[in-house]
Amino acid sequence: MVTLPVVQRPKPTWEHAPVLHHEPLGDRYRALRLQAPKIAISAQPGQFVMLTVARRGEATPALPRPMAVYRRDRGAGTVDVLYGIDGDGTRKLAGFQPGEEILVVGPLGRGFTIDSHIRSVLLLGRGIGTCSLTTVAQDNAARGVDTIAVTSARQEDALIGTETYREFGAKAVYSVTDTDNTSSPDALLATLTEDWDQQPPQLIMVCGSQRLTSLGVELARRWAAELQVSLEAHMACGLGYCHGCASGARSEGEESPLICADGPVFGWRFDEAERVV
Ligand SMILES: Cc1cc2nc3c(=O)[nH]c(=O)nc-3n(C[C@H](O)[C@H](O)[C@H](O)COP(=O)(O)OP(=O)(O)OC[C@H]3O[C@@H](n4cnc5c(N)ncnc54)[C@H](O)[C@@H]3O)c2cc1C
Ligand code: FES
Repeated sequence: MVTLPVVQRPKPTWEHAPVLHHEPLGDRYRALRLQAPKIAISAQPGQFVMLTVARRGEATPALPRPMAVYRRDRGAGTVDVLYGIDGDGTRKLAGFQPGEEILVVGPLGRGFTIDSHIRSVLLLGRGIGTCSLTTVAQDNAARGVDTIAVTSARQEDALIGTETYREFGAKAVYSVTDTDNTSSPDALLATLTEDWDQQPPQLIMVCGSQRLTSLGVELARRWAAELQVSLEAHMACGLGYCHGCASGARSEGEESPLICADGPVFGWRFDEAERVV
């Protein structure tokens, strides 16, 4: 893994963001829409926010929770987050009602980088990891770049993003699950190479699964494509201060990259000799 070249990043800010909508999405997830115009206008694909779920005057939970920006509407000044209820923080978050405010810090981290020569991008997302990829499709639509999207999950009711990708004009959307045996790397490799070997995407982006990362590596080698991977880590601050999210990738001499500040998106370094062109 390599840190991506330094690009201009928006300066993080904070907002006491009113909740506009907050609804269950199927049995597993919740969709949260916040009025956060400063973050909406600047958030780049793959960036995230930190949500403080303690209400004003409450001491706990002390740590904010990292959440990907699922989509943003710059005109309306809104930021959408899609999340699953996991532990204490997300359980508390689920109780916020429209009209209440949530302290949001963002946009944070180094997001995905799409050079101007890129015309076609493959997105590989598993479960909630797909939330980090949808804004790539949102920006691709605006820039005339093709999106090919794979959303993967254990079963159908855990799939995320299928409709969102379609709404953003994706050229193809593959919704694959473990239950119907379409999500295995072998099955996906067969499907994607059959459909795209003649016109392969130039850039592959992955989030949410080690198996999808391995598939991304294989496809990137086959197609001589660039690969970028978004990593997850437990984050206490999200700002590069606490070093709780150090990736451990480098040990001798250099400091380990911080997933919140040097990532969460990292590039993949290929040995040129390994490439199958
Ligand atoms: C960059 C990034 C983007 C994310 N985007 C989303 C998203 O869009 N939707 C979504 O549902 N989830 C997302 N997550 C995971 C989400 O942050 C955790 O599921 C959530 O923090 C768990 O909090 P909790 O209170 O439910 O669990 P608890 O177990 O009570 O959390 C305890 C602490 O551990 C941390 N933690 C626990 N699990 C994780 C985890 N898997 N990753 C990182 N920190 C964790 C929490 O931040 C908290 O500080 C993202 C994580 C990262 C790093
Ligand atoms: S979460 Fe604190 S440095 Fe990354």
